[in-house]
Amino acid sequence: MRLPPELLAGIEQETSRFDGKQLARAAADLTERYKKDETRGSSIVNSEVHRAAYLAVRLPATYAANRRVFAEIRALAPHLDISSMLDLGAGPGTALFAAAEAFPHLRQATLIEADAAWFEVGKRLGGSIPVRTQWLQRDLRSKLDFGPHDLVVISYALGEIPGSALEPLLERAWQNATKLLVIVEPGTMRGFSNVNAARSWLITHGGELVTPCPHHHACPMAAGGDWCHFAQRVERTSLHRALKGGALGHEDEKFSYVAAGRGFVSLPKARIVRHPRKHSGHVQLTLCRAEGLGTRTVTKSQKQAYKEARKAGWGDAWND
Ligand SMILES: C[S@@+](CC[C@H](N)C(=O)[O-])C[C@H]1O[C@@H](n2cnc3c(N)ncnc32)[C@H](O)[C@@H]1O
Repeated sequence: MRLPPELLAGIEQETSRFDGKQLARAAADLTERYKKDETRGSSIVNSEVHRAAYLAVRLPATYAANRRVFAEIRALAPHLDISSMLDLGAGPGTALFAAAEAFPHLRQATLIEADAAWFEVGKRLGGSIPVRTQWLQRDLRSKLDFGPHDLVVISYALGEIPGSALEPLLERAWQNATKLLVIVEPGTMRGFSNVNAARSWLITHGGELVTPCPHHHACPMAAGGDWCHFAQRVERTSLHRALKGGALGHEDEKFSYVAAGRGFVSLPKARIVRHPRKHSGHVQLTLCRAEGLGTRTVTKSQKQAYKEARKAGWGDAWND
C-alpha cells in the first residue's frame, strides 16, 4: 500500500524543518517510548520534532492499518453509506485521511485530541480533503458527548487510556456510533488484549460484529493464550528508510482490530488468521470459525476453492 501523493507531500513538507539527525533521534525516542509499554495516560509525542518523526515513521503504518480495515468493511458491506465520522484520539487525523479514501460520501468529521499542537499539522496535511472538519481539544477520560456520527474510530489510542476510563469511553463511543464503531490497536499482545476487551464489551451491549470475527463467541485465540492480529504492508519513503536504518522498501504493520455495527452485514463463515501456506497442489489455511480455530487443506481437485485459496491472504474472509 502507498499513501496518497498529497499526504506524502505534506509529510515531506512537515519533516523538512528538521535535519536527519534530529528526526532520527526523535524516531528512536518514539520507538523506545512505545516499547516501554508505559503509554497509558502519558503523552508520547510531546514536541515538534517528535510530531514530525511520528508523521515520518508511524503515520504511514497507522494509516495503512486503517485503510485495510475500512477496505475490509467496504468489501463486507458495499452499500454502507458513511457521511460523518468521529475520531477519538485523532493525532494528526490519520483515520480521517484513510476514511476519506475509503468512503467517498464522507462530508463531516469531528476529531478529538488532547494535544492541540496536532491541529495545525492535521489541517495542513488534510487541506485537500473535501470533508468539513472540526478539531476539538478534549480529554477522552472526561464525560463527553459529541452527538451521533455514522462512523466512530479509535485508532491506536485505546492503549493510551487508563484502564478505569476504558469502559466509559467505549460506552460513549458506541452511543455516538449510528452505524459503525472501529477500534484499531497495535498487533501486540497488549493491543489485542484491549481490542478483545472492547469486543466483549460491545457484544454484551448489543454490538453486532462486522469484522474480523466471523462469530460472536468468546475469542478462541485469547482462550489459547494467543493474540489475533493481522499485517499490512506499506511502502517506506526514503526518509522513513533512513530514519529506521533499514534497507527494506516496505514494512509490515501488525495490527489488531474490531469493527461493530448495528446489524447491516452477514458474517463470512471464517477468517484466515495466519499466512496461508501455499504448496504445490494444495494450500493450508488456518481459520477462525464459530466452532473455534482449525486448519483446512484445499487441494487442486477442489477447483474453485483452490483458485480462491491461491489468491487468499492472511486476514481475508473465507466462505467455503
Ligand atoms: C498513537 S497516537 C494515534 C494517533 C492517530 N489516531 C493514528 O492512528 O495515527 C494516540 C493519540 O491519542 C491521543 N490521546 C491519548 N490520550 C488521550 C486522552 N486522554 N484524550 C485525548 N487524546 C488522547 C494522543 O495525544 C495521541 O495523539
